[in-house]
Amino acid sequence: MRMKQLAACALSFGMVLSLGGCSYTGGKRIVRISHAQSEEHPEHQGLLKFKEVIESKLGDKYEVQIFPNELLGSAQKAIELCQTGAIDFVVAGTANVETFEGDYEIFSMPYLFTSREAYHEVMSDVDYMSKLYNSTDQSGFRVLTWFDAGVRNFYSTKKIETPEDMKGQKIRVQQSPASVTMVQALGAAASPMSFGETYTAIQSNVIQGAENNELALTNNKHGEVAKYYTYTQHQMIPDVLLGNTKFLQSLSDDEYAIFMEAAHDATELEMSEWDKAIEEAYNYAKDVQGVEFITVDIEPFRQKELSVQEDMIERNPGIEEMYEHIQEVNKKYDSAKEGD
Ligand code: GCU
Repeated sequence: MRMKQLAACALSFGMVLSLGGCSYTGGKRIVRISHAQSEEHPEHQGLLKFKEVIESKLGDKYEVQIFPNELLGSAQKAIELCQTGAIDFVVAGTANVETFEGDYEIFSMPYLFTSREAYHEVMSDVDYMSKLYNSTDQSGFRVLTWFDAGVRNFYSTKKIETPEDMKGQKIRVQQSPASVTMVQALGAAASPMSFGETYTAIQSNVIQGAENNELALTNNKHGEVAKYYTYTQHQMIPDVLLGNTKFLQSLSDDEYAIFMEAAHDATELEMSEWDKAIEEAYNYAKDVQGVEFITVDIEPFRQKELSVQEDMIERNPGIEEMYEHIQEVNKKYDSAKEGD
């Protein structure tokens, strides 16, 4: 029933949006933001900060409206709507952006980052990232900032302790060819679908599992239907806040600076909420949903992905420079650990 209501809702928003691009209320330009998470998710909190900063400084001109839960469509659909200007901003995983700009595929590479510290350092380097962020103007959007989306791990209705356990299982992945290959390299079948479809697919045994950070168990209720969560730590895929290029170019320099400041503050807030949210999700999933968390040796999983890494670079040479850069940052933290 809830899904039907959401679908109906999405349809009516779809109709409103298809009537034309931007709209106004009381003389203010409405700025629409779409994302796939629930209102409890740290990203939603971050976006509330974005809204607060913009409205406190430019409230006479802009009203920011946030649409959570894929209400305006799945991530891929929302990005398309952002390209045309029907939505002004979207938060989406980079796995959804790679079909629009191939360089974003780097983040889908399994076992790319070897520590969260390296991941955070690379992503927080605003100068380094801005080249990539501004590379999609010709596609109608550009990235303003990133959000931490944690570490991705497999969860399933069947226990996974070694790659062998994955044989015969069908696992949902994001709509990214690299993630399909990643799951196949472990001997499982991959089923790409939108985030919102995953719960029902597990529940009806169309798939046995998926992979995500711990919040998917609680915020998206996947822990109700999949009871084994295995720390394979195979990907750290950031989410990004992307905005329609024409809209961003229509802003004055001062306004643009305020939107960028708001984006920066949104990231800071989201990151400061993240660890607490993960801890709460872990406790709730374990104690209330009855999910078993399984720690494994990740080496056998990583070994199976080495050829996937090589193939990705060969197939998409555009990602090599970033790959090398990330290896350098990885080394810094790996050697610090070895020195402990
Ligand atoms: C995470 C991520 C989302 C992404 C989702 C998915 O929740 O934050 O951006 O859409 O994973 O697996 O689809």
